[in-house]
Amino acid sequence: MTAHGLAVQSPPSAAEVLDRCRALVRPALRDAVARMHPWVGEMAAYSFGWCEVGGAPVAASGGKGVRQALAVLGAEAAGAPGRAGVPGAVAVELVHTFSLLHDDIMDGDTDRRRRPTVWKAYGTGPAVLAGDALFALAVETLAAVSQGPQTVRLLSTALGDLVRGQADDLLFAARPWTGPGRVRPDEYRRMAEHKTGTLLGCAAALGAALGGASPTAVAALDRAGRQLGIAFQIADDILGIWGDPTVTGKPVHGDLRERKKTFPVLAALDSPLPEASRLAALLEADGEPAEAAALIEAAGGRSVALAEARRHVAAAEVALSDAGLRRSAVDELRSLLDFLVRREL
Ligand code: IPE
Ligand code: MG
Ligand code: MG
Repeated sequence: MTAHGLAVQSPPSAAEVLDRCRALVRPALRDAVARMHPWVGEMAAYSFGWCEVGGAPVAASGGKGVRQALAVLGAEAAGAPGRAGVPGAVAVELVHTFSLLHDDIMDGDTDRRRRPTVWKAYGTGPAVLAGDALFALAVETLAAVSQGPQTVRLLSTALGDLVRGQADDLLFAARPWTGPGRVRPDEYRRMAEHKTGTLLGCAAALGAALGGASPTAVAALDRAGRQLGIAFQIADDILGIWGDPTVTGKPVHGDLRERKKTFPVLAALDSPLPEASRLAALLEADGEPAEAAALIEAAGGRSVALAEARRHVAAAEVALSDAGLRRSAVDELRSLLDFLVRREL
């Protein structure tokens, strides 16, 4: 309370925002998944963390639901009720899950969120099919709303970019660590914006479009989401090297084993310190990932990556600041930005 007796309300925490949005979206997401072929729907429910292999229900332990929250907040930022953004939230969660199902096959990853990946649990063919079904359902969800043409267009642009980013990510793995063919930080930023940022931007933009926002506001939210995506991907890279696997739910040093050109490694290789050349030699010889992690840190890769992530969060905040968006939603978006980049880092 202030001296004048007015309650000073701090914006809700990121966890509260995520919980509120998840509760708002859950019934529509469950309805959408219930329309799928039962076997394919089970794989979808398994990847959402709603059931075990075989369909036995489990207490929800799925993802954070960042994309659905961005869609709800996008609608609210446009001055509409959060429920206006729900079809967008459902569509982006479906697309995100589709992309993870296929990504785990491409990356050969056996664990996600502390459980076997869908391809590991059900087989590669079924996991490809479940991904395709999720994709189709996402398009159908948007096609059914009155802003169908605009929202389907936003989604298809994001999908095109996502494929572009994923392609670069895969191609980068075959590029050398050093020399003229090395992956430069600007190439990484573009890849991360495409791979991760476009769907986050699309989520917020879809919510805004469904909430009747102006083209300027839709574009501002899209920009903010893209910047957040780069920051989020760098944070993910950091967690992939130094995160606790019991917290991340992913195998330790997976990215290093797969020769992924993650930002902390690129930043470390660019350092003038002697550890940078020791790191290059170790990576070229496919040396021990734990030793590489120590050299990346010693060469400053971790702190440079953290600073870079913060820079992109700041750019996201700038995008949000001058688009005539509703203040309370922008405050909630800000606490989400902050949380996502500070996750256990
Ligand atoms: C996943 O990228 C992004 C897409 C599915 C397009 P990553 O491969 O970097 O993410 P994780 O580490 O498997 O979640
Ligand atoms: Mg992956
Ligand atoms: Mg991948």
